Amino acid sequence: MTTVAGAGRGGGVADGGSGLILAVETSCDETAVAVVEGGRRIRASVVASQVAMHAATGGIVPEVAARAHLRWIVPVFEEARAGAQIDDWSEIEAVAVTHGPGLAGSLLVGINFAKTLAYVHRRPLVPVNHLEGHIYAAWLLDPDEDERPAPRFPLVALVVSGGYTFLVEMQSHLEYRLLGQTVDDAAGEAFDKVGRLLGLSYPGGPAIMKAAAGATRFDAAFPRAWMGESYDFSFSGLKTAARRAVDAVRGPDGSLDGETVANLAYGFQESVVDVLATKTGLAAERADARCIVVGGGVAANSVLRQRIAGRAAALGIPLIVPRPGLCTDNAAMIGAAGFFRARAGERADLALDARPSLKLVE
Ligand code: KG4
Repeated sequence: MTTVAGAGRGGGVADGGSGLILAVETSCDETAVAVVEGGRRIRASVVASQVAMHAATGGIVPEVAARAHLRWIVPVFEEARAGAQIDDWSEIEAVAVTHGPGLAGSLLVGINFAKTLAYVHRRPLVPVNHLEGHIYAAWLLDPDEDERPAPRFPLVALVVSGGYTFLVEMQSHLEYRLLGQTVDDAAGEAFDKVGRLLGLSYPGGPAIMKAAAGATRFDAAFPRAWMGESYDFSFSGLKTAARRAVDAVRGPDGSLDGETVANLAYGFQESVVDVLATKTGLAAERADARCIVVGGGVAANSVLRQRIAGRAAALGIPLIVPRPGLCTDNAAMIGAAGFFRARAGERADLALDARPSLKLVE
């Protein structure tokens, strides 16, 4: 379990309550509970990751993930509550929970847990879309972090994770205009699949980034799917290209030497980063954005961050990328989005159900 817990209790940021949101996230393979104040300040954030468990199967087995959520949800909650120093439930303004998208069995564990807390302690229940959580991670401040300006509208947000890749424009809170999305694989999925092809460890993203840093040749040619003038993405062709490239250089015994792996990892990463950064920069320019936000697990990629930072600098606007622990799944981001949803008057009743295919823009 990783924990961020902090004392420091300021007053509520906006009118209408304590501003403290208790948030629950179990949409995929992280069991997470957080307490966030005013949509920004993390009081406590606890994440129990199943990554090591799923490494054995090279991917997530939904039934195994749901059982692990059941095992961890109570201890994770207890640790978050203790870290946030919540003595009295009257301090909590609302309970926010991810209701989709994600794995049905996993979502249900968090939803039922949050419903129970809301019912027993008579707190409002606020449903949050996991995808907006990844965007709202950009609002978060760690317990001891200095205050910094919140993202400014209009903004362009790129969300890149193992399950999702899309670009949206926001003119104000909770308003999303979908600019484009992947038509096949998510960028993180491509990293994971190509990582496996190259014989690297799971998950593939960090392993490819590390291998690519040791490249000695920079000419491995991987295609870029520009998808015409659109902001859509496509990464499935890259997988085929990677398979061909790997087959062409395998030794007679099927082996790949480390240098070849590094060079191929570099070429693949360049192809993904080039398309993501170019489209994000273009979208920000055309939207006259005052800020670019990047979220999701792939945002932990330092080459992607640098490349988009360059685009943002050229436009004279800030790039906000949460620290890696807030790019991957966590409940603090649900607490941030949940605060704005709660203040917008959004409520769910006890009939709230999992929405595995929930979209950001319906
Ligand atoms: O947001 P996330 O934790 O959850 C899912 O959507 O599953 O993202 C996980 C994804 C994985 O595909 C992983 O390979 C990718 O994020 N990832 C990275 C890096 N760190 C994690 N991809 C590229 N570079 C990284 N440094």
